[in-house]
Amino acid sequence: MTIKAKAVVLTAKNEYSVREIELDPPKDNEVRIRMAATGLCMSDLSVINGKLPMPMPIVLGHEGAGVVEEVGANVTNVQVGDHVITSFIPMCGTCHFCQHQEPWLCTATDLFSGMQPDGTSRVKLDGEYIGSFAALGNMAEQVVCPAMCVVPIKKKYSLSAAALVGCGVMTGAGAALNTAKVQPGSSAAVFGCGGVGLSALQGAKIAGANPLIAVDLNDAKLEAAREFGATHTVNAGKDPVAQIMEITGGIGVDYAFEVIGIPEVANQAYAATRRGGTCCLVGAPDAAAEYKFSGLEMALSAKKVCGCLYGSTNAKVDFEKLLGFYETGQLDLDRMQSRTYKIEEVHQGFEDMVAGRNIRGVILHGN
Ligand code: APR
Ligand code: ZN
Ligand code: ZN
Repeated sequence: MTIKAKAVVLTAKNEYSVREIELDPPKDNEVRIRMAATGLCMSDLSVINGKLPMPMPIVLGHEGAGVVEEVGANVTNVQVGDHVITSFIPMCGTCHFCQHQEPWLCTATDLFSGMQPDGTSRVKLDGEYIGSFAALGNMAEQVVCPAMCVVPIKKKYSLSAAALVGCGVMTGAGAALNTAKVQPGSSAAVFGCGGVGLSALQGAKIAGANPLIAVDLNDAKLEAAREFGATHTVNAGKDPVAQIMEITGGIGVDYAFEVIGIPEVANQAYAATRRGGTCCLVGAPDAAAEYKFSGLEMALSAKKVCGCLYGSTNAKVDFEKLLGFYETGQLDLDRMQSRTYKIEEVHQGFEDMVAGRNIRGVILHGN
């Protein structure tokens, strides 16, 4: 049976609106989810403004949680009624990366094609098949997506809090906990205190970092960072590297995280990293951006520089782990949701994002 649902559809660069879509039933190894909440992520904005080019029309959204309503043949990981978080990286279980315990590198879906793994779509707009972001397109009341992109969670958790775990929170917290593996008692600095940066900060706090230094240009974000556990704040307008050196007695931090995607800031994070320390690059820059570090300095300082995709996440384990931290109060997912919107208010949501008014905006689908 065809299902009708409201969805945020991007039809041309910077042109998006709430439209009625039609969804085909799930095929083999696919599920249909009634979305409860969808987070507004920077990457959705990058698709809207063309920084992340994708075929259009396309249903936006890749960070969300909901309830399984229908399963196709051969689906074994979830059943109807399960609460799930979507993962924009699939976990096929059979590719090289899945088989080597690195499921966050799974390539079973093409993030940029907008299509399901078989190259086709389940979503129609005005009778024509269109794309869905990361094979999810979950800025919609309903989605049909691969079963390997959903992870069941315990029903006790708020689905709006859980939605954030699907991208921003997992990416940030995972950067600290999994990618860099912050150690207790170590020092850390987080450059950029947006939703992902504040999640990295919380991850570093859970790991026991102290001092834990938040860096941003926006004093309101720095204030928020204090509430999320920063021991020090640094306004990036005034030589952030010098300020971090002062806090760390001239040594630099054990771990520096760049969580914006600006080459100049990546260099600051690198410069603020102590000899032998780790500089973790989480922010996604423009496609044309290049990061440059002195090879000689890198060799002589023995610093480590690492990229970070999805917080090196094994979603099947880590989603529930983060929700556990939420339950014990170590990870504040309630304050992360600074404003909620109806799907019809999506333009306001992205305007608030651009204006820096939100930590994370969340669309609630009201069901
Ligand atoms: N120095 C310090 N802070 C800065 C600078 C700068 N030069 N420029 C911007 N910022 C701050 C902003 O004030 C804001 O608080 O960086 C923060 C960015 O936050 P958001 O725009 O909310 O972005 P977020 O959703 O957290 O994503 C950050 O992580 O996963 C990636 O794709 C994502 O590249 C994006 C990055
Ligand atoms: Zn995202
Ligand atoms: Zn795989």
